[in-house]
Amino acid sequence: MASRLAFKRLPTSLAARSWSPATRTGDGVRFQSTASSLAERVQDTIKVLPHSILPIVCFETNAIWQKEASLPNADPAPDSASATLVREHSEYMVATYSRPPPVFEKGEGSYLWDIENRRYLDFTAGIAVTGLGHSDPGVSSVIASQSRTLMHASNLYYNPWTGALSKLLVEQTVAAGGMHDAKAVFVCNSGSEANEAAIKFARKAGKITDPSGQRTEVVSFKNAFHGRTMGSLSATHNPKYQEPFAPMLPGFKCGTYNDVAGINDLVTEKTCGVIVEPIQGEGGVQVATDEFLLALAKRCREVGAVLIYDEIQCGLHRTGTMWYHARLPKEAHPDIITTAKALGNGFPVGATIVNGHVADCIKIGDHGTTYGGNPLACRVAHYVLGRLADPALQEGIAAKSAVMIRSLNQLRSKYPERIGEIRGRGLLLGLQLNEDPSDIVTAARERGLLIITAGVQTLRFVPSLVISEAEILEGLSILDQAFAATQKQ
Ligand SMILES: Cc1ncc(COP(=O)(O)O)c(C=O)c1O
Repeated sequence: MASRLAFKRLPTSLAARSWSPATRTGDGVRFQSTASSLAERVQDTIKVLPHSILPIVCFETNAIWQKEASLPNADPAPDSASATLVREHSEYMVATYSRPPPVFEKGEGSYLWDIENRRYLDFTAGIAVTGLGHSDPGVSSVIASQSRTLMHASNLYYNPWTGALSKLLVEQTVAAGGMHDAKAVFVCNSGSEANEAAIKFARKAGKITDPSGQRTEVVSFKNAFHGRTMGSLSATHNPKYQEPFAPMLPGFKCGTYNDVAGINDLVTEKTCGVIVEPIQGEGGVQVATDEFLLALAKRCREVGAVLIYDEIQCGLHRTGTMWYHARLPKEAHPDIITTAKALGNGFPVGATIVNGHVADCIKIGDHGTTYGGNPLACRVAHYVLGRLADPALQEGIAAKSAVMIRSLNQLRSKYPERIGEIRGRGLLLGLQLNEDPSDIVTAARERGLLIITAGVQTLRFVPSLVISEAEILEGLSILDQAFAATQKQ
């Protein structure tokens, strides 16, 4: 394969002997060496570079060249259009994320393109958001149509879509075998807000069922992730997220996930609510046992606590059913389900679905939001729910999951020292590594595959639900190459 020098603004005279322009991009020309070996290419470049820039370029190019010969998608170089744009913008952006160099500007189905036209197969779906794939034409046309009709009039007034979405969420939940007594919905803008509402509703229910005011504790679990707002963060017992913002809100207790024996001491008469992910996503793709969820639900009923299932990541068909808990008997159903992420396929929207007991505890004025439930977001979510409910899509998820698990098992057989457990359900899968996954994530990206991590040394796979089996195999073949490239001798 021809190699690519990532420094695009070299004078064209440098192309004279051993370099020829290979690719024309927005801000210049990429140069391709005609030398056959890496050593020859390094020597060629050193000969033709002006002495003033030699030390800098040699340092950078050595690093790039050591890997570029086999890289279809080498990360943008320091003088690329991407890097220039990032430099211009980053000082104006609060530095809350560490991002890799590509700048994404376009998506279609399971692929993303960066501003320099590199194409990436996306196994992240915007962190389990774009279930219907990127830039779904149906979603786009609903957004266009509703944006021309009515985007926002506030919750002070009725509109046709907030109620329609709420009704559909309740009906679909019951029909899918999820929370059997689902009754009403509070629509908001994000997962954190959906959980914030759930926690407030649990507190309010606690005050009503125990007027002494003692029932205020909220229980959640180790490795859980419920969001970044102060209430949802207080339920996210992870020092990495909590410490910079301590102290947390009072009354939040942490239990051990899947510890059935510990439930009775953890959940008491003082507990107003228990919030749990039936599958922990950020926590490393850990699946709750049926026994644990059954015992938790039983204990909540015993002490009068509200049970909240946070299905923000694992719900909305990602595991092949609308809610992961739909496979459980009624006794293990929650009083509240929270959802967001895939609900808008990228358009911000979240929802807190409650049963009659919780709905009856909430009075006008107890909770609210300006944007939440606006007609634009609700019509989009209504459309997305309709599309996700397609039985063919759901059947496909089981088949795709099987393909992915089979390939991951093959990878594990190839790298038994590096790979441990394969966890998860449907298209929410995790691969436990025995090493820091950062190099593998980078190596995969530079070969055209986007993957993310979770928990402790876990690779997380949350592709769109419309990904094809061929795309899954393509991605797994790239992942295999990434493992090979990062194999320590
Ligand atoms: C299970 C779960 N709950 C809550 C959240 C928070 O959602 P958001 O980022 O939309 O506020 C997330 C986000 O990753 C999540 O995975």
